[in-house]
Amino acid sequence: MAGGLGRGGQLGGVVFRQQKWKSSVSMRAKMPPCDFVPEEYRSYPYERMLKIREQNIAPSLRMYYKKPLLLHQGHMQWLFDYEGRRYLDLFAGIVTVSVGHCHPKVTLAAQKQLACLWHTTNIYMHPSIHEYAEKLTSLLPDPLKVVYLTNSGSEANDLAMFMARLYTRNFDVICLRGAYHGGSPYALGLTSIGSYKHGVANGIGCSTTMLPDVFRGPWGGSNCRDSPVQTVRKCSCSEGVCHANEQYIEQFKDTLNTSVPKTIAGFIAEPIQGINGAVQYPKGFLKEAYRLVRERGGVCIADEVQTGFGRTGSHFWGFQTHDVVPDIITLAKGIGNGFPMAAVVTTKEIANSLAQNLHFNTFGGNPMACVVGSAVLDAIEEDSLQKNSKDVGTYMLLELAKLRDKFEIVGDVRGKGLMIGIEMVTDKDSRHPLPAEEINQIWEDCKDMGVLIGRGGLYNQSCSCVSFAAISYPHFQQRQYKLLLD
Ligand SMILES: Cc1ncc(COP(=O)(O)O)c(C=O)c1O
Repeated sequence: MAGGLGRGGQLGGVVFRQQKWKSSVSMRAKMPPCDFVPEEYRSYPYERMLKIREQNIAPSLRMYYKKPLLLHQGHMQWLFDYEGRRYLDLFAGIVTVSVGHCHPKVTLAAQKQLACLWHTTNIYMHPSIHEYAEKLTSLLPDPLKVVYLTNSGSEANDLAMFMARLYTRNFDVICLRGAYHGGSPYALGLTSIGSYKHGVANGIGCSTTMLPDVFRGPWGGSNCRDSPVQTVRKCSCSEGVCHANEQYIEQFKDTLNTSVPKTIAGFIAEPIQGINGAVQYPKGFLKEAYRLVRERGGVCIADEVQTGFGRTGSHFWGFQTHDVVPDIITLAKGIGNGFPMAAVVTTKEIANSLAQNLHFNTFGGNPMACVVGSAVLDAIEEDSLQKNSKDVGTYMLLELAKLRDKFEIVGDVRGKGLMIGIEMVTDKDSRHPLPAEEINQIWEDCKDMGVLIGRGGLYNQSCSCVSFAAISYPHFQQRQYKLLLD
């Protein structure tokens, strides 16, 4: 272990910082081989891009890294910058590139459709939307059989909330603290991370409830999670009992009794909370929460934007890992491998609530999106990506757990399949978030080594910072993780 480095530097000292003095090229020595050769970059110089960014692109779109990356080409798990430098993309375009950058099958399908028909709008029929709706719903249990295609996850969640309200004729929706469900004014009411909130009215009729976070929350033990890796917290529960779950359910009941009317429109939750750092609830929590919501007349919405399409490994959909069937699910990100598309899938009855009056969007379900979506589903199946997520994710989780046991600043390792979170802390006893500057250094060092990872967590944008590496690349092979961990 590198001596003389601070507490926060221990992990960095061993894995990252001792290499800092080397040139960035030599720091890439351990990168797995890749025989893809990117094209030469031929656009504006880097400095000009920065200037355009400063002058013509909305400042709310923040960039990552001290020297922001200018990316130029992608090939499966690899990204190439304008100087031809190669990066292993473990963040997958914020959990979106589900089958690999420019996956040949998906690219070919898009190219063919591009030469045939781009757009018609939904007032006419075209084959791809019907083929896609049938294919997508064949992967879902009854009664989730009706698809509404949208352009983004935020729009999907807007629509889900709207449908819940129309169908139930109730208004109140409950969501979990720490959740991200979108940035549109309607969905923002469901998003419960302070840094995304703006000082304008939002969330009328949206109530938050306690996040059942078995690592950072008041309750949790060493058996709570559906994951190969548990927290280091002790557990004295007997077989079949989870006191942490009981406590969190009490909190949920408290919200039902204090914050909403007797009847509600619904409840929305991700099967694993993504942007907050792959937070997993105790086993059984969602099942009991769904029961309580339905008792109040509400519908249950699963936001599968991050957990869908086999990413959790054991199942194709995140909700299946909780032994529940939602009334509405919302899909985005991995659905199109980066193509702008999203979906709401629900029951015929709930969908009918929207059919009483006109509801329309121009681009949702256009031919391009539908053929891309179809090709993504084929690629997941043909490349066995769900199994890959399970095998590689389990391997990765168990290896990362060894780092947690070795280093004080690795507080928690969690997740399922390739939905993995690593929570960094000052020390395991206090669980205080690792300060931002230390997180930033680790994060920059990973990038300098050629590995792109994500960040999240409730305190990410503020000075004290919880950070997570969201690792999410179904196409990624075990051999490559092994090289990294070594
Ligand atoms: C769980 C979840 N739901 C919804 C959204 C919103 O999706 P979009 O950015 O496509 O509007 C996101 C985006 O990060 C998300 O992670």
